[in-house]
Amino acid sequence: MSIDIFIRKEKIISKVKELAARIVKDNIDKDILHLVIVLTGAKTFAADLAREIRKLHPFSIKEHYVKLSSYSGERSTGSIKVKKDIGNIRGYDVIIVEDIVDTGLTLSFLRKHLLDKGARSVKIASFLDKPSRRRFPVKIDYAGFTVPDKFIVGYGLDYNEKYRELRYIGVLVED
Ligand code: IMP
Ligand code: MG
Repeated sequence: MSIDIFIRKEKIISKVKELAARIVKDNIDKDILHLVIVLTGAKTFAADLAREIRKLHPFSIKEHYVKLSSYSGERSTGSIKVKKDIGNIRGYDVIIVEDIVDTGLTLSFLRKHLLDKGARSVKIASFLDKPSRRRFPVKIDYAGFTVPDKFIVGYGLDYNEKYRELRYIGVLVED
């Protein structure tokens, strides 16, 4: 296996700034921003996004972590389990922070889960979008880059828990 660089560090940084600016603009009237961060893949994007938001506006940012399981190896298995749930979010406007939307199963499940827990509104920020694989429609309010139907790694995304630390987004290629 080798990795082709697909999106470089500089482009990643400017996209995160752009998404942060849009989120700030849409929420400027709020005191607190509630980010629901989908572990583990979204950790890198979420950390950068929260810091870029904070540079632009002094919101108090609350991070909530949720861990779901749906994915092993290269294929979505089709059912979702909540492995680590978040606390009380009743009445909150929340923004889900995700690394990539593939079939859409994870986020359509999570969106409903958060509404069932009493969230007032749920928006979605996903760094990557792989629309060619969508089976469950998801409205992504803040989307970074569209990627083709290839296996993507880096910037938090893994292949069997490897490559999350890469500063770029890469495509896994068989040698
Ligand atoms: P979905 O439920 O099919 O939309 O899958 C979403 C989850 O699958 C994401 O949160 C990722 O963790 C994982 N995933 C989907 N595509 C990729 C990929 O190309 N590389 C790494 N992880 C992926
Ligand atoms: Mg994920």
